[in-house]
Amino acid sequence: MVPIEARVATAALQAAMEALHGAFPRHSWTGIYFLQGDELVLGPFVGPPTEHVRIRLGRGLCGRAVREEKDLNVGDVTSQPEYLACSADVRSELIILVRDRGEIVGQIDVDSREAGRFPAEHEARVRAVAEALGPLVRQARATAGAGPVP
Ligand code: SME
Repeated sequence: MVPIEARVATAALQAAMEALHGAFPRHSWTGIYFLQGDELVLGPFVGPPTEHVRIRLGRGLCGRAVREEKDLNVGDVTSQPEYLACSADVRSELIILVRDRGEIVGQIDVDSREAGRFPAEHEARVRAVAEALGPLVRQARATAGAGPVP
């Protein structure tokens, strides 16, 4: 049984991803990955389903962001050999780490079908959202991947 705090946090994160996705028509996919041990586990998202529901930290751009402890703004994903495709038509990707009390607890991942679609201003907006969501991501991640989201 998923505790009520985690269910509320997950629902709030789903609403947050819907608001973020809806605010930017250039987003083709907007979602959260939770950091659990040495894996990233897919959380609430908007967009086509991805096969990458669990990503080891050694893999993908998502893994690299955590390993290097820095956000990634990739204008052309086809130039990145480690890129893991969510959809074949994605061209640019923005990964913003989510921290809570200084600890990395997850990341916001955004895809666009157009190259170079994440200017600094856009990145700053997504970062502000990530800063606001830290405690919720910590709360929701404990039960992420444990079963169907209620
Ligand atoms: N592109 C990411 C994988 C996540 S999907 O795009 C949703 C990566 O290279 O790690």
